[in-house]
Amino acid sequence: MPAVRGKDIEVLFSASAIARRNLELAKEIAGRDYTDLLVISVLKGSFIFAADLIRAMHDVGLSPEVEFIFISSYGSGTTSGQVRVLRDIDNEVKGRDVLLIDDILESGKTLSYTRELMMSRGAKSCSIAVLLDKRMRRQTELNADYVGFDCPDSFVVGYGMDVAHAFRELPFVGIVKGDV
Ligand code: IMP
Ligand code: MG
Repeated sequence: MPAVRGKDIEVLFSASAIARRNLELAKEIAGRDYTDLLVISVLKGSFIFAADLIRAMHDVGLSPEVEFIFISSYGSGTTSGQVRVLRDIDNEVKGRDVLLIDDILESGKTLSYTRELMMSRGAKSCSIAVLLDKRMRRQTELNADYVGFDCPDSFVVGYGMDVAHAFRELPFVGIVKGDV
């Protein structure tokens, strides 16, 4: 078990398993007839997944435009609450196929809010790709169009995801053992 910052981390999804899955997701995305595709990475948690997924999309022949939206969904600690746009995209979404990329779909509040926002701005469609799905935590009707892996009901870190701003740099997704 790798140790980082003096903590043991149980590996849940390895770097190689994630890379394989990203390519499969990219092929699924390429199988749909999106036109004028605009990918929006939902920051901060999705930055590594988005970076890898858009390169896998390139590998299967897609050329999306890429944007970033900074959404805060945390109330306090590790439970999500209020959703706010901290930094918006610069691009026009009207008439475009939008693909939101996020790290985890949990309650669904972050992504339902963001999808509603894009549809209210006139997006032609707004699909959702997430690395991890915590289905058991859902509080909305929302489902993702593309899911990397079903995630157990534990707090996970790595591959862009943090706990108290730590562990984003890990190349895998894992669970911190003991007290964080
Ligand atoms: P929700 O779907 O609105 O509840 O929020 C999901 C967001 O909460 C994700 O985009 C993450 O930023 C964050 N989140 C949820 N579960 C975890 C976790 O296990 N580790 C790190 N961040 C998480
Ligand atoms: Mg997030």
